[in-house]
Amino acid sequence: MTNNFSLKPGPIGVFDSGYGGLTVLSEIKNLMPQYDYLYLGDNARAPYGSRSYQLIYEFTLQAVKWLFSQGCQLVIIACNSASAKALRSIQQNDLPKIDDTKRVLGVIRPTSETIINITKTKHIAVLGTSATISSKSYEREIQEFCPDIKISTEACPMWVPLVENREYDKQGADYFVKQHIDRVLKKDKDIDAIILGCTHYPLLLKKIEQYTPKNIKLISQGEYVAKSLKNYLSRHQKLESLCSKGETRIYCTTDSAKKFESLASFFLNEEISAKKVSLNNKE
Ligand code: DGL
Repeated sequence: MTNNFSLKPGPIGVFDSGYGGLTVLSEIKNLMPQYDYLYLGDNARAPYGSRSYQLIYEFTLQAVKWLFSQGCQLVIIACNSASAKALRSIQQNDLPKIDDTKRVLGVIRPTSETIINITKTKHIAVLGTSATISSKSYEREIQEFCPDIKISTEACPMWVPLVENREYDKQGADYFVKQHIDRVLKKDKDIDAIILGCTHYPLLLKKIEQYTPKNIKLISQGEYVAKSLKNYLSRHQKLESLCSKGETRIYCTTDSAKKFESLASFFLNEEISAKKVSLNNKE
């Protein structure tokens, strides 16, 4: 093991390809306001969801290393596409080489643990980006806890661009939302819960609700990821002591800070200031 980084307490790093992870950060900081948080959105290279495994892995590893270089001891990959394509390799192959005292967690496992307590019919659906759906990560995680569950999946490649371009509450979004909800519900008439397996989708929630029968529960991830993290920290006291508690929030983006500030407020319901960073340099 090579340890290039110090064991000083640092902020909890939260990473997403763009803005979506803010829906997760929002719930995490509501539940645990005492910690410092450092958010990184790789907006310059978003969306990730239509990219290849290799690129998503390389970009995510770069982001994780950058967050470590900023003092984070714990990083949450608040992006399903990156969790699906990169998390396992980073945890198993990269962390032992970088610094095995640090931890990187994703969003797919906590969501999978939740769904099995919610579905009664044991027929569920997962909506996500093409990367997440093609990875079959949800099937793997959920069937580990509950082998007899029936999972229908649907990639919704237009949903992230609708959100990133602030079209999520406009009329044009209805077409793409209805199309995918109808399609997935046709796959199995007994579905009683749908995982919104992309951290951008909570912004489309109103439209998704409009086209989903009321008896079907829609699962946005933020709340469950936050509860799971709280539980994880209570079980890992050493790591918890390395999460600094100063209630600071720092927002970084690889694209324009101004643009990030204006769109981020829709995800967080608050005004923030952001800083543009380059993942190659320590800034
Ligand atoms: N928010 C990301 C996720 O949860 C998707 C965004 C993207 O495609 O970059 O999958």
